[in-house]
Amino acid sequence: MACSGSAPGLQASAPRNGDARLRAAIDAIGTPVSASDVATWNIDVAPDGRGLPAGSGDVATGARIFAAKCAACHGAKGEGLIGDPLVGGQGTLTSASPKRTVGSYWPYATTLFDYVRRAMPYNAPQSLSADEVYAVSAWILNRNGIVPDDARLDAQSLAAVRMPNRDGFVPDPRPGRL
Ligand code: HEC
Repeated sequence: MACSGSAPGLQASAPRNGDARLRAAIDAIGTPVSASDVATWNIDVAPDGRGLPAGSGDVATGARIFAAKCAACHGAKGEGLIGDPLVGGQGTLTSASPKRTVGSYWPYATTLFDYVRRAMPYNAPQSLSADEVYAVSAWILNRNGIVPDDARLDAQSLAAVRMPNRDGFVPDPRPGRL
């Protein structure tokens, strides 16, 4: 049907701007957001670790979690299947066939925590506890040779991890100039 602007019946019944009933109808849209609702969404972690929750996890625990909840998609060693490779690739970024993984590419370990907590497992995002995310992050970092076998990560130690490609990114303030 063409929108010709000739719908007199509709226009006649539409409330005027400033009409109290219109105001009430607009105010009734949506529901107030409680502090606990906001808290469940407000889970971002900054590169410097701000926003990391309490808790901790070690490499050995992470190995068990990875085998149970991640390996089906990312491979038993994090080498990648239908999910991205998470391990390896260090030293390849400037080669003809760069391999971008958490270990070779990501500049901050804190982003690993944020991403896994927010988005993984792909089929059940946000189902892991903070301790489990710390543990599986520790395992991925350990497999990449970034933290030792006996590492236990928490908010402080995760934020202190220096990733191999930490300085591999340059500012790109487009449309400004470098
Ligand atoms: C059902 C399959 C599946 C499972 C299970 C799964 N993932 Fe993933 N994962 C994916 C897919 C697909 C992507 C790519 C998502 C995208 O690019 O949007 C991904 C991406 C990732 C990335 C980002 C990789 C990169 O370099 O961009 C990380 C890290 C990761 N997964 C970790 C995990 C961890 C840890 C677990 C277990 C707790 C897990 N995943 C379980 C499928 C899965």
